[in-house]
Amino acid sequence: MKKNTKLKVSIIMGSQSDYKIMKLAEKTLKKIGVLFETKIISAHRTPKRMYEYATKVEKNHIGVIIAGAGGSAHLPGMISALTHVPVLGVPVESKKLKGLDSLLSIAQMPKGIPVGTLAIGKDGAINAALLAAAIIANNNPNVQKKLINFRTLQTKSVKKNPN
Ligand code: RP5
Repeated sequence: MKKNTKLKVSIIMGSQSDYKIMKLAEKTLKKIGVLFETKIISAHRTPKRMYEYATKVEKNHIGVIIAGAGGSAHLPGMISALTHVPVLGVPVESKKLKGLDSLLSIAQMPKGIPVGTLAIGKDGAINAALLAAAIIANNNPNVQKKLINFRTLQTKSVKKNPN
């Protein structure tokens, strides 16, 4: 296996208000020992910041991007349009439509520009981190070992009987 232990996960989100969900992705990556960074980047409110970030993705050793956004959630799709690394989208629950708007905005990408879309909210943030770790593990045997260990412990923690 070709090693590249420099590659990290970049967690981005459209607003400070997304952090209560997206911090679960941080927590999961920490547990598995994956390098990461976290930034607020809004496709609507800070489009220049988004563009500058996207142009430096490869140079900054980013192997996979987790993008969380809610409502009219354009961030994951726009980042995917501007970069060549895998983008995982986390639909953040919105106040008005409970995240259905976020989910559809992220999932319904036109062919040619993919975003790997996870579940709405907490489960999505945690699974995005696990999927990002699995992508990083392709080039990092240490992360692969930790990921396998995480799964083994999770399996062992499930009791056979409910009482
Ligand atoms: C989106 O708008 C963000 O991703 C967030 O989920 C949503 C609401 O943002 P705030 O008004 O709370 O900053 O861009």
